[in-house]
Parts: sequence; structure tokens; C-alpha cells
Amino acid sequence: MINVEHVVGRIFNTDGVAFLDELPAESTDLVVCDGPYGVTTHEWDNVQNIQEFNLNLIKKFSRILKQGGALYLFGKPDCIDFIDYREYLSLQSRIVWYQPSRLAQGRKSFTNNYDVICYFAKGKPKTFNLEHIRVPQLVELEHRKRCENVPSVKNGKYGKTVFNKDGKNPGDVWGDIKQLTYKSKELIGRDLLHTIQKPERLIERIIKASSNPGDMVIDPFVGSGTVPVVCERLGRKFIGCETNKLYFEIASSRVQKEQKRIEKAADESLFKDDRTIQTPSVDFNQPVLLL
Ligand SMILES: C[S@@+](CC[C@H](N)C(=O)[O-])C[C@H]1O[C@@H](n2cnc3c(N)ncnc32)[C@H](O)[C@@H]1O
Repeated sequence: MINVEHVVGRIFNTDGVAFLDELPAESTDLVVCDGPYGVTTHEWDNVQNIQEFNLNLIKKFSRILKQGGALYLFGKPDCIDFIDYREYLSLQSRIVWYQPSRLAQGRKSFTNNYDVICYFAKGKPKTFNLEHIRVPQLVELEHRKRCENVPSVKNGKYGKTVFNKDGKNPGDVWGDIKQLTYKSKELIGRDLLHTIQKPERLIERIIKASSNPGDMVIDPFVGSGTVPVVCERLGRKFIGCETNKLYFEIASSRVQKEQKRIEKAADESLFKDDRTIQTPSVDFNQPVLLL
């Protein structure tokens, strides 16, 4: 068994499925699993039966997750159909990641316009940071006010209902985060488009919602390294695996770049603090506005 604390922050160029057996039981707060979908012609995506493949993963994740820990499993709409996962994890939401900008070239049936992200928990979820993932209300102010003044709301059982000024729950259809395009600044390379690299905002929402700083996040299928990069940025511990040598190298250098960026930003803010100490510009006898 691996001592997870000894390998925190590392990506291994190895099989992520086998690696899971090396992790101690109940060692993980969150798993982000964006692995094979079983639909493309990529060698790594060649899976005979994606549902059975996912059930096998769910069993393994259930062992390594702490009580209340979470799993986000990416796939196509049928990725968990007809498998019984209930003994291992409980399904909280089947999130639809809607991508309306796709070209929709299907001719024989309706074009698939979404992926699913199956959000599971081991028992009752221990973390759900709604305050960190709220999205803007799309309802106009006038309409909000009207809603708040409807008598059944005003005098209802639960008292006055008000719209939260910090925004609303993102819900389970995520159409506000677009898949990367050729023009996206964060795209590492054209080959990584669509099948591989996920937008950082998408991964940020998941990590912010279901983990806290210092928590352990496992990504068995690292690809271009989006999960490790976001973990670095948000102060989460991570361990990842990737079999493809090229992707492994891309992900490792992306993480190093992010670490350097964070270090530089920290140095700059220290420098700023030093200057503040040498040349104080605040009159401490006056009330200070805290921003
Ligand atoms: C959908 S991509 C992951 C994309 C990633 N979330 C990102 O944003 O870049 C899936 C990745 O899993 C890798 N992969 C497939 N089977 C694997 C296995 N058994 N162990 C480790 N990596 C694997 C593939 O090489 C591919 O890079």
C-alpha cells in the first residue's frame, strides 16, 4: 500500500485502474474520474462494455473514499445504465453538461448535445460548498420583486422567500460552461480538443463544491492535467495517473507551470507587504476600510 502523504502532488505514468488498488481504504475525499467514454476511436477509449468498466471503477472508488466523500464520473448519457452501483455509492445527481455549440451533424437520429457527470457520494455527502459555486440569477430584478411579493410566498409556511444576492445553485444542467474551442487560451494543443482537455471552470466547480483546502483528490485519468492544475490553484492535495507518455509529460509540465505561477504571485504579495511595512501609508488612528 502506498502512503498517500508521501506521493501528494505527483502524477504517475501508469495504469490508473490498477493504481487504485495501491491506495489505502478511506484515504480520499474526492475522485474526479474523466476516463474512457467508450465512444471514440482513440486507443485509450477502446472499452468493450463501458457500464461494466464503470461499475468496476465505482467499486474501487468506494473502497478508497472516506465516508461522505464524493465521486464525479464523466461519460455519455448511458454510462451507468443497467448497472447496480447502489451497494457501493449513492447517486446524488446526474449532471448534464450541455454543449449547444456543437455542430449537430447527425442524420439518422437526434445529435447528442451533452455529456453526463454522475455525482456520487459514499453515504451522506460530507461537503457541499454551495456558497463557493453560486451562479448569477438570470431572472430580472423586477420579476424577482414580483415573485417575492406573491401572497403565497410572503405569507407562506416558510416565511418570506428572497432571491440570494450571491446567485443561485447551478442546478444539474450546466450550460454555462462551454467546451474549449480552437481559440480557447487555455487549450494546450489541438489534438487535446473535445476528447481530452476539459475547461478549468468545469473542474473548478466540482472541486470547489465537493472538497475543502487540504483535502485529497484522486484523478486516475489525468489527460492534459486539468484536475491537478485546478487542485494546485485551490490548495487541494492531488494524486494522478496517466498511461500516455505524451499526455503525462504535458500534464506534468502544466502543473509545474502552475506551481511557479502560484509561487511568483505569493512572492509578489510578500514584496508588496514588505513595502507596506517600510513605508506605511495607513493612519492607524483612522478607521480602516477592509476590502
Ligand atoms: C478524457 S481524457 C482526461 C482529460 C482530462 N480530464 C483533461 O482535462 O485533460 C482521458 C485520459 O485517460 C487516459 N487513460 C485511459 N485509460 C487509462 C488508464 N487505464 N490509466 C491511466 N490513464 C488512462 C487517456 O490517455 C486520456 O488521456
